[in-house]
Amino acid sequence: MRLLVTGAGGILGSAFARWASTPPHDLIHPPEVHAFPRASLDIADAARVAASLDRIKPEAVINCAAFTNVDAAERETWACRRANVEGPRVLAEACAARRCRLVHVSTDYVFDGEKGSPYVETDPPAPRGVYAMSKREGEVAVLEACPEAVVARSSWIFGQSGKQDFVDWVIRGLRSGGLVRVIADQRGGPSWSEDVARALVHLCTQPAGIYHASNAGSCSRAEQAHAIAAAAGLEHRFEEVPASALKRLAPRPRNTPLDSGRIAASGHPMRPWDVALREYVQGRADG
Ligand SMILES: NC(=O)c1ccc[n+]([C@@H]2O[C@H](COP(=O)([O-])OP(=O)(O)OC[C@H]3O[C@@H](n4cnc5c(N)ncnc54)[C@H](OP(=O)(O)O)[C@@H]3O)[C@@H](O)[C@H]2O)c1
Repeated sequence: MRLLVTGAGGILGSAFARWASTPPHDLIHPPEVHAFPRASLDIADAARVAASLDRIKPEAVINCAAFTNVDAAERETWACRRANVEGPRVLAEACAARRCRLVHVSTDYVFDGEKGSPYVETDPPAPRGVYAMSKREGEVAVLEACPEAVVARSSWIFGQSGKQDFVDWVIRGLRSGGLVRVIADQRGGPSWSEDVARALVHLCTQPAGIYHASNAGSCSRAEQAHAIAAAAGLEHRFEEVPASALKRLAPRPRNTPLDSGRIAASGHPMRPWDVALREYVQGRADG
């Protein structure tokens, strides 16, 4: 399958960018990936989007582009909405006009985190904060403009890229000597970019609609940090604090594990987060 992937310089998009040069061996039919970082394709530029689709003629577009700095979004509302609402709408209109499958990536942050059990696709969204609201608006814009699209929500994505993820942050913090402050009362589902990318490829050929695509299980940020330290063979020097101890601009939902049962039922079960995390950390040059 020929894929056009946007946002290919980010944490998730980088998994696809690697596949463009080294296709994954474990897939029976590895996709032909055309990976576009932001500098090559701005998803809110309708003319460039149309020209790229007409040149590559993809069978599916996977949108990994987004404005993801949750705190900066509170101040940079215009830039956030351009990437998370206008861009997805432009992609959806372009895909609908060409009968091309669009898989648009969204987030657990569309929920308020108050449910108390894993979220399923039919749970009502209740986003809090500019980033979360823009991501929900992006979902709605995509499905309005292109009812044949897939919206794939994931969570707490980590993986190798040019950007710092939570794993980098914890390992660097532990190596630098002091105590690393981690949040004990925010829970979610850590997900490896490589596993999410495989799930997104699977969704290119599934019925339209919303799917949750996170590694199985959930943990607190503190538990994730301990798992990173264990996998990297580092001393566990953490100070566990409540989220309220960090003065951050944007609200974060407290408890947003996603139930990825729908994608499992479609033939693509997601493996446990701790198994994926261990493989990722131990495969890193500094793991
Ligand atoms: N990371 C997580 O924990 C997480 C959790 C749940 C869901 N998600 C979702 O997963 C998707 C990928 O996230 P990520 O973690 O890979 O984010 P990321 O590392 O911030 O990557 C997003 C990429 O999109 C690019 N971008 C921004 N505006 C663009 C535009 N107008 N046109 C084209 N590219 C643009 C960014 O470029 P610049 O860096 O140059 O701005 C960046 O390279 C997003 O939809 C996000 O909401 C992420």
